[in-house]
Amino acid sequence: NNYYQTNNQGHLIIGGVDALELAKNYGTPLVVYDVAQIRQQFQAFQQAFTNLKVNSVISYASKAFSAIAMYQLINQLKGHIDVVSGGELYTALKANFPTDRISFHGNNKTKEELALAVENQVGVIILDNFHEIELLEQILNNTSKRVSVMLRVTPGITAHTHQYVQTGQEDSKFGFDISSGQAEQALLKVQANKQLKLIGIHAHIGSQILAVGGFKLEVKKLMHLIREWAQKYAYQPQILNLGGGFGIRYTAQDQVLAPDIFIKEIVQTMRAYAQKYHLELPEIWIEPGRSIVGQAGYSLYTIGSSKTVPGIMPYITVDGGMGDNIRPALYQAEYETVLVRCPQAEPKQVVHLAGRYCESGDILIKQASLPQVEAGDVVAVLATGAYGYSMASNYNRVPRPAVVFAEAGHAQEVIRRETYADLVSHDCFY
Ligand code: LLP
Repeated sequence: NNYYQTNNQGHLIIGGVDALELAKNYGTPLVVYDVAQIRQQFQAFQQAFTNLKVNSVISYASKAFSAIAMYQLINQLKGHIDVVSGGELYTALKANFPTDRISFHGNNKTKEELALAVENQVGVIILDNFHEIELLEQILNNTSKRVSVMLRVTPGITAHTHQYVQTGQEDSKFGFDISSGQAEQALLKVQANKQLKLIGIHAHIGSQILAVGGFKLEVKKLMHLIREWAQKYAYQPQILNLGGGFGIRYTAQDQVLAPDIFIKEIVQTMRAYAQKYHLELPEIWIEPGRSIVGQAGYSLYTIGSSKTVPGIMPYITVDGGMGDNIRPALYQAEYETVLVRCPQAEPKQVVHLAGRYCESGDILIKQASLPQVEAGDVVAVLATGAYGYSMASNYNRVPRPAVVFAEAGHAQEVIRRETYADLVSHDCFY
């Protein structure tokens, strides 16, 4: 199994650090990132484009995991980032992330958020709707500022896991619809304002996509749009932003494609189209989130109570759950788990790995295979690095876990564990 590594004591190691030590030093539940894995994934996307000699930008979708340290890491890798809120933008600013490499997304950015973005000269604002264009125009009015923007369009494709569907007029809250002419209207509106510099077109077709077909269709649709706009309005975008969505391995059922396979197919499709219609190849941007941090993240938990009743599958309960990873409860997401002191031990039982939250649906893994375990044992749930901590809550007033970066045998806390004092720090007496 190459989805985790062990040391000579047979313990799980993450970033070269013994996960039992991590649990002991920082407590559980604990989120640990193998930083080298994050670097490798990011660089695999960069390298794929370089090999094909295509101008590209890898913009990390930071909603997957946002933290000052994470922005510092992406900065080291010379990448771009996507932010989707004033809060993510603020965090990136605190990390001294170069603002010209920030893209600002969202389907309901407030005027304050847009003003913060303009004031800090973010690289590009990705326009989602007419209301937003108006807000931005109000902000720019009576200034001499110019802002780079892209238009988010809905190409009528939705892709999830291995399937994709064409949905004609796409039913989505995001972006300007193409087939009804909304996108074209947005183009004219933006072009009419000299303070808005339209550098590209954006689309995003889904998440946890495990096949390349949806991306190829997306490329064709967007290239078609570009061709139309070039003919009709002499408009040629410099950039085609294809969004994120590259799938990862959660369980053995997920057949994942390496970044270079996705990128090769995308670029080939784009080149073929461009050649056929004598178009210039635009610069390609992608926005991977999950595929950058997902498999690099591990959640460590300590086993506590268990319940065994004849005729039902045993419940083994850990000290975390839906508060630090809501994906199983929210999306029926599946994960694998290993016993940290001996990940290679033969499975001896099939159990429900339950969370500690007061809700029946708080089961981290249904039918998890585990060796014999006892209270006090530490287990790791694998591939929790994307949308785990970033969607964490204080449900049941449980403090959020700490987050640790581990690399080359060295571990460092990058988000402190919340304390009970943190939990009440915003409460007021009445
Ligand atoms: N770009 C845009 C415009 C997006 O909306 C998203 C994700 C991404 C990039 C990054 O997609 P990724 O590469 O991470 O698949 N909470 C859900 C996932 C929501 C994704 C929303 N948009 C989950 O836990 O599965």
